[in-house]
Amino acid sequence: MSVAGEAKALMPPDITARKRKQLIVCLTAYTTPIARLVDRHCDVVLVGDSVGMVLHGLPSTLGVTLDMMIMHGKAVRRGLERALMVVDMPFGSYEEGREQAFRNAARLMAETGYAAVKLEGGEAMAETIRFLTGRGIPVMAHVGLTPQSVNVFGGYKVQGRGEDGDGILRDAVAVAEAGAFALVLEKVAEPLARRITAEVTIPTIGIGASAACDGQILVVDDILGMFTGFRPKFVKRYAELGLAADAAIAAYAADVREGRFPAAEHLYADLSKAGEVA
Ligand code: KIV
Repeated sequence: MSVAGEAKALMPPDITARKRKQLIVCLTAYTTPIARLVDRHCDVVLVGDSVGMVLHGLPSTLGVTLDMMIMHGKAVRRGLERALMVVDMPFGSYEEGREQAFRNAARLMAETGYAAVKLEGGEAMAETIRFLTGRGIPVMAHVGLTPQSVNVFGGYKVQGRGEDGDGILRDAVAVAEAGAFALVLEKVAEPLARRITAEVTIPTIGIGASAACDGQILVVDDILGMFTGFRPKFVKRYAELGLAADAAIAAYAADVREGRFPAAEHLYADLSKAGEVA
């Protein structure tokens, strides 16, 4: 039984039905132990392509491959009982056309046993979203700042300030009409995110967007404070695990260097020798 009191595994229509009724809690996860932790508290767990930057040390999400997403998708799947798992389609795996998108999404689904994909893009991706949803693949859309297009944007800039707001609204309406079951709004100016949430029929999931969104998502490593350096404005830290880990590793290193570790309780006696204790 989950914290939210729901025992059954959530499916995309359950998430869509939450619009204007119940806020949707989402986090990323990339490994089984973290999936087990977030499953009790979250409605949606995203195996985001942010895994490339967070776990693999890549400079952007552009180097993430389908095989990486399959490997992390399988790991997260093993840790989930209740939350809906969504897996990101990585850069280059869906933009060529709807058949390419279907082929790769179907492979992800078959190999990881998950329930939905997320892909980036608005009007330009509407036809692909319609094609996938019409063939049994639920799609979460993602508009505003779409990190796979970082080179087109010229950086990770706030979107939807001033005139480009109309384009993002059109993107949101297009993906909703194409059949997406929910929509991530990333780093979108607050008034625009509020307006999109009011106008589209599917739930909006904000990240640096608006408290008016139908749900929120953050990268789990960000809320746990795993990194001491870069912290985007939209992140709230709920722990400082990076600092705690640093202190623990420093203490271990000092123990080894100064001969305090291992101590007798960490070692194995030879039980064949009479009188020795295990
Ligand atoms: O890859 C990711 O983690 C994401 C979320 C931050 C929305 O796309």
